[in-house]
Amino acid sequence: MSTPDEQGLSLHHLTVRFGGLLALDDVSLRVPPKKVIGVIGPNGAGKTTLFNVISGFVAPQSGAITLDGRPWRPRPHHLRRHGIARTLQGVGQFGGMTVLENVQVGLKAPRGNRGYRGSKSQQDAYAALERCGVADYANAYPGMLPYAKRKRVELARALAARPRILMLDEPAGGLDADEIDWLADLIREADTTVLLVEHHMDLVMSVCDEILVLDFGKPIALGSPGEIRTDPKVAEAYLGAAA
Ligand SMILES: Nc1ncnc2c1ncn2[C@@H]1O[C@H](COP(=O)(O)OP(=O)(O)OP(=O)(O)O)[C@@H](O)[C@H]1O
Ligand SMILES: [Mg+2]
Repeated sequence: MSTPDEQGLSLHHLTVRFGGLLALDDVSLRVPPKKVIGVIGPNGAGKTTLFNVISGFVAPQSGAITLDGRPWRPRPHHLRRHGIARTLQGVGQFGGMTVLENVQVGLKAPRGNRGYRGSKSQQDAYAALERCGVADYANAYPGMLPYAKRKRVELARALAARPRILMLDEPAGGLDADEIDWLADLIREADTTVLLVEHHMDLVMSVCDEILVLDFGKPIALGSPGEIRTDPKVAEAYLGAAA
């Protein structure tokens, strides 16, 4: 058994280099169960790279990840088994499948449940679409939907598997104020661990328990929304990026 302070996901001193570029520079982070943890920073700060490491698409040059206190080497095809789901920056859906099929495609039989057949996964996929308010589009093709609806389908796809860790990469990108309010409620009510990469500060500040700030791959601040809002290093990083 892991001790309570080991529960969840922990990143230990992760470093990623792409040639001469240091995309992540000694990044450590505790992601305890049911917490909403934000990862922010200027463009190119390494946020998506961090998600890519956690989901096994990028191998770190050094550092380690533990899940519930045990060493863990993520592999993309093992994520679901470990209860981890992510959305992609932008919208990543297959054009040749309906909305329902897109959500269903990641829902393979849970381990030990041989009776989990097509109709059950279809029901789960449909329920996720309903939860995200896009069940009306179940039989449409994603390409026919407005952008905001496609973002909701992307969320439904990730939520359908009932992940214990949900990783959202810029879910508010391209959304209007009403859609962002809806998204904030969804995150607050998700009842799961959420890792949120986002540029929309009002959203980050309103839903996160804790926020990690990256700048050129380096962690420059970690704290509550209130602490991050008033941290001069954070303001400086964003001002530097804007210049
Ligand atoms: N596969 C890759 N090969 C080479 N360089 C990469 C690769 N992936 C990311 N990078 C570089 O690593 C740095 C961090 O990129 P990353 O996509 O993680 O930033 P980000 O914080 O997600 O930025 P944004 O806010 O624009 O999405 C950037 O300089 C990027 O060009
Ligand atoms: Mg990114």
